[in-house]
Amino acid sequence: MKRVLICYFSGTGNTKKVVNRASECLQQEGCDVTLYNIDDDNFDHDLNSFDMLGVAYPVHAFNAPSNVIKFIKSLNKLKKDEKTKKRVKKPLFIIKTSGEPLALNNISSVKIKSILKKKGFILNNEYHYCMPYNIIFRHTDNMAYKMWNTADKVIPIDCREIVEGKKSKLKYFPFGRFLAWIFRVEHWGGRVNGKRYKVNDKCINCQACVKRCPTHNITIENGEFKFGKNCLMCMRCSFHCPKNAIKIGWFEKWKVNGAYNFNNPNETEEEKHKKYCKKSYNKYFARNQKKIEEFEKIS
Ligand SMILES: Cc1cc2nc3c(=O)[nH]c(=O)nc-3n(C[C@H](O)[C@H](O)[C@H](O)COP(=O)(O)O)c2cc1C
Repeated sequence: MKRVLICYFSGTGNTKKVVNRASECLQQEGCDVTLYNIDDDNFDHDLNSFDMLGVAYPVHAFNAPSNVIKFIKSLNKLKKDEKTKKRVKKPLFIIKTSGEPLALNNISSVKIKSILKKKGFILNNEYHYCMPYNIIFRHTDNMAYKMWNTADKVIPIDCREIVEGKKSKLKYFPFGRFLAWIFRVEHWGGRVNGKRYKVNDKCINCQACVKRCPTHNITIENGEFKFGKNCLMCMRCSFHCPKNAIKIGWFEKWKVNGAYNFNNPNETEEEKHKKYCKKSYNKYFARNQKKIEEFEKIS
């Protein structure tokens, strides 16, 4: 039985949904799966005791969120083999979710991949699932349903590949490492913008934002909400605010509030961004549909 550890971060729940499905599928393939939520900040697993490592995150500005990179850096190297004195190598798989299917999102893992390589983990599989935006604009529930329906059917295929050791990698964009480095300005920008968050008078003081913030960046001082300098821009506070009472600084116009309904497509809902990345979405759905049909034929 293969022992698999998946370390994940999910700002608003999309990546968690995908990871839970992957965990279910890996278990169906006979693996013993341990999930570690990077939010928990109490990592005490021995990486040497697992056969495989998985890392999952939402794409933030064509990168992995800063807390994911920090966590990856904090991991120990795999031990050296006693006989050969060489570092033991273990397979790595990466799962990313993002709102649009642009190939540029593929570069988000370059940093993680290279840090983990030095620790003994070799990237064998990498998968990207489109899930609805939690910033920029609100996808329709129809689109959310279509995205999840696709991921739900493709994840079992991808998990089988992982277990069978069949490699599957995403193509990196030319100059990907350099581009990703430039886009990492978002990590710094997020912290600056995070200080500009405000709570308006729709707030019912449920303090869900305070309790949920992964960096404990929201506090209450003298009855007022204070936003510190450790914002990840993960959107958890504003996305899940039951009264849509949090203003997200310079990005207020891009705010998305409220969970998607992944289960019931609403055929009458108006699609406001029909043309946005239309070709990319069509290609993404067609490619995955083909993969699902081919898999169904052989199984
Ligand atoms: C700050 C920020 C930056 C984002 N940047 C991108 C991006 O570059 N490309 C993309 O396709 N989606 C981007 N997204 C959308 C998320 O990757 C997407 O909605 C993801 O599924 C959210 O996952 P989560 O619910 O696990 O946090 C961004 C979201 C946030 C909050």
